[in-house]
Formats: sequence, C-alpha cells, structure tokens
Amino acid sequence: MKAIDLINAINEGGYADKVTCDTIKAGSPDRELHKVAITMFATVDTVKKAMEWGADMLIVHEPTYYDHMEVVREETPVIKAKRELIEKSGMTIYRYHDHMHHRETDQIPEGEVYYLGLKGTTEKTPYSASYLFTSEEPITALELAERMEKNLNIAHVRIAGARNIKSTKIALCFGTPGGVFDLLRRDDVEIVLTGEACEWMLGEYARDAHALGFNKTLIVMGHIGSERDGMRLLAERLKKSYPVFETRYIECGEVYTYTDTKEQ
Ligand SMILES: [Fe+2]
Ligand SMILES: [Fe+2]
Repeated sequence: MKAIDLINAINEGGYADKVTCDTIKAGSPDRELHKVAITMFATVDTVKKAMEWGADMLIVHEPTYYDHMEVVREETPVIKAKRELIEKSGMTIYRYHDHMHHRETDQIPEGEVYYLGLKGTTEKTPYSASYLFTSEEPITALELAERMEKNLNIAHVRIAGARNIKSTKIALCFGTPGGVFDLLRRDDVEIVLTGEACEWMLGEYARDAHALGFNKTLIVMGHIGSERDGMRLLAERLKKSYPVFETRYIECGEVYTYTDTKEQ
C-alpha cells in the first residue's frame, strides 16, 4: 500500500471542499508503507521519534510550519532547521485535519468523549467543529477536569465558574473552533469544554455567571489536550483495519511546561 492509497482511504466520506489544509507536507505520495506513525503535531521530538522507529509516513492533525495553510512568510533559521530535519527523514508527512473533522461523525470529539469514558448524545451546532453533548451521567466540572487529568493525561486543566454542580449539558469546543462564546451564553449549556480561550471574555463570563447564581463553567484543556485523543483513536482504528503495515501512536506532549513538570 502506498501513502496516497491510505490518504484516499481515510479521506473517504470526509471534506468535499477543494480548498483544504489536508495536503502532503513532505515526502512522496508513492512511498510504500511498512510503518505509519500518528501524532497530533509534527514537533521536532515526534519527527525524531518517528524517524528512529523507521516510519514511512507520519500523519498529523495540525500545521508543521505554524500557519494553517502552511504559508511560510519568512524562512527563519528555526523553519529552515525543521525543514532540513524533515527532509533528511524522507518520511511522507500528511496533515489529516479537515477530513477528520468533517465526516458524518467528527473523529476528534469522538475520540475525546471515548477516552473520557462519557456516554451520551452529540448534536451538531451551527459552528464548525463545535457540538452539544448531553451526558447520561450528571457530572461536575471538577469531576470532569479530574477525569481529563487522569484519562487524557493533561497536566493542569483550568476551570472558570461553577465547580461542584452536577451537569449534563456540555458544549464540546475542542481546539479553537468558532462559536465558543455563543455556546457559553446559551441557557441550555452548563459546561463548555475548549482547547484555548480568551480569558478576559470567556473566563470572566463564566466566573460572573456562577457568582450571580447561574450554573455555568468554562473548562480549558489546552489545544493539544483537547484534540490529541482523536488522533489516538485514529491510530487504534488503523491498527485494526490495516494489518498490512505497522501503526504506532507517538505522543507529542503538551506545549507548556509547569513548575511541577518533571524534567525529561
Ligand atoms: Fe486544532
Ligand atoms: Fe482539529
């Protein structure tokens, strides 16, 4: 199987728009696949780990060169060094983003909900990649955040607003999608989960809402913390569906470190 055959297979049923960020970022579409690595970001570390493993292909969710459409405005020494590393690896790097989000079931929230161990129903909203989830089990924001730290390995989940009220109406706004403030303001939304948030707007709205007696919470998981489990689930699926090549999930880790982060 060639890289392009796998790309065509995983794109099926996905994004129909011709303008997409899902392109091959490096290497050849014709590379024969023996080992396929999956990660959230092509960081220097994940590229090196994939190289050491001998991966033919690396599938990522996010940009490699810090721009959504990979427009490099200035070839800085950092970009040049990263490009050289990637070219030296010879790996085919493919970004699987739009096709992943725009399937009948968006695979990012599917993975997050699955690894969080939540059961319930997910509905679409008018906003791309934002959903309304009704949990079968009433859960507090604190319990949810603790579960994120345990199951999703997020170092420090941030909570603004109510912490201890059992809730079932949860907006899933993983990454940095549109409509987060609109969903936070809705009467039928109790908790909003997001990757990155504007603190003075979203955080303070949730804090004030709770102080005024409303059940309202914003949980900030970090961009990586809120999306990587979709890629983790993709790796599990490829492992089962394609025994013709080896599949490995490579963890990229969170971008920030903290005072209590253990040095590696
Ligand atoms: Fe994202
Ligand atoms: Fe995403």
